[in-house]
Amino acid sequence: MGALCSQETRAGKGPRGTEGIRHVAVVVNLGGERKVPRAGGAKNALQNLLALVDGDLKAVNETIVRRMHSSVELIPQLAGHIVAAGGKRMRPMLTLACARMCGYRGQRHIGLAACVEFIHTATLLHDDVVDASDLRRGRATANAVWGNKASVLVGDFMFSRAFQVMVEDGSLAVLAILSNASAVIAEGEVLQLTTANDTETSEQAYLEVIRAKTAALFAAACRVGAAVADRPKAEEDALEAYGLNLGIAFQLVDDALDYSSDTATMGKEVGDDFRDGKITLPVVLSFLRGDENEREFWRRTLEKLEQEEGDLARAIELMRKHNALADTIERARHYGRIAKDSLGIFPDGAEKRALVDLVDFAIERAY
Ligand code: IPE
Ligand code: IPE
Ligand code: MG
Ligand code: MG
Repeated sequence: MGALCSQETRAGKGPRGTEGIRHVAVVVNLGGERKVPRAGGAKNALQNLLALVDGDLKAVNETIVRRMHSSVELIPQLAGHIVAAGGKRMRPMLTLACARMCGYRGQRHIGLAACVEFIHTATLLHDDVVDASDLRRGRATANAVWGNKASVLVGDFMFSRAFQVMVEDGSLAVLAILSNASAVIAEGEVLQLTTANDTETSEQAYLEVIRAKTAALFAAACRVGAAVADRPKAEEDALEAYGLNLGIAFQLVDDALDYSSDTATMGKEVGDDFRDGKITLPVVLSFLRGDENEREFWRRTLEKLEQEEGDLARAIELMRKHNALADTIERARHYGRIAKDSLGIFPDGAEKRALVDLVDFAIERAY
C-alpha cells in the first residue's frame, strides 16, 4: 500500500509492466527458481522461510504437478496455468515449517502441504469466478481464458484430489482438520455474498467473513503441522491460533492493497473489490466515518453499482481522508501481535523465528 510501499521496496521490484508482474507475483515457480531478490527486514521473511523449507517445498511442488494429472486434458491444462504461475506458497510452507518446528522428521508433511495448496488453488479458481476477476498471479485468470464453467469444475477436481491424497495419508485427525477448514471456507464465501453491496455491514460481520474465507485455511495449514508430528493438543491449539490470527492479518492487508497497491505489483487488478461492490474494512470504516453526502456516494457505487469514471479515485481519496487504509493495517498489526504471541510456548529456533518474521511480511507486503 502507498504508506507501506517504500521507495526501497519498489526499487527491489524492478520495472513496472509485464516484467514487474512476473518478477513479483511469481515467488516460487515449479523449477523452484526464486524470483524475489533477497533483502533485509520483513520483505526478507518469505525468502528466509523458503530457504528453510526449500527441499521440502520442491517435493511439494512435484507432488502437486503429479497429482493434478488427469486423462481429461483440460484439467492439467487449466490447473497447470494457475499452478505454474507460482504464487507465494505461504500455506504449504506453513505446514512444512510447523511440522519441522514440532520435530517431525518423516515425509507425510509433503503430501499434506500439497493438499493445503490444492485447497487454496481450488478456492482461488472459484473465487475468481465469483469475483469476476481477470488477473491472478500476473496472468489472465483461468475463468478469463477457459470460462466460468471450466474453472468451477476444475476447482472441484482440485478439492476432490486433495481429499484423495488425505485419505492416502490415512489420518482421520488430519482429515478432520482440513475437511472442517474446507467447509468453513465455503461458508465464508457464501456469507460474503450476504454482505456484498451492503454498505451497512459491520466490522464484526466483515471479520466473521475473513476469519472463515481466509484465516481458516491458514489455521488448518499450521495445525496439520503439529498433528502430523503427533504433538500435544496445546501445541496444535497454539499453531491454530497463530495461523488464524496471521490469516486475519493477511486478509486485512489484502483488502487494503486492493485500493492502495498497483496491478503490476500485486499481479491482481487494483479496484476489483470496488467494481464488485465488495464490502471490506476500508469501506466499512470510510462509511462509518463519512458524512451523508459521502454515504450516498458509497450507496450509489457499491449498492447500486452505478459507477462512473473517477469513482475509484474518489473512493481512495475518501479512504485516505478518514485514515481507513492505515487503520485497516493497524487492525492487521493487532492480529499479527496475537499470532506472534501464540508461538510463545515453542522453544526458540530457526523455524519459530521464520514464523514470527512471516507475520511482519504479511503486514508489510506489497503483493
Ligand atoms: C490470495 O492468497 C487469496 C487471499 C486470501 C487474499 P495469496 O495472496 O496467498 O495468493 P498466492 O497463492 O500468493 O497467489
Ligand atoms: C480471498 O478473498 C478468499 C479466498 C480465496 C477464499 P479475495 O477475493 O480478497 O482474494 P483475491 O483478492 O481475489 O486474491
Ligand atoms: Mg477475489
Ligand atoms: Mg482481495
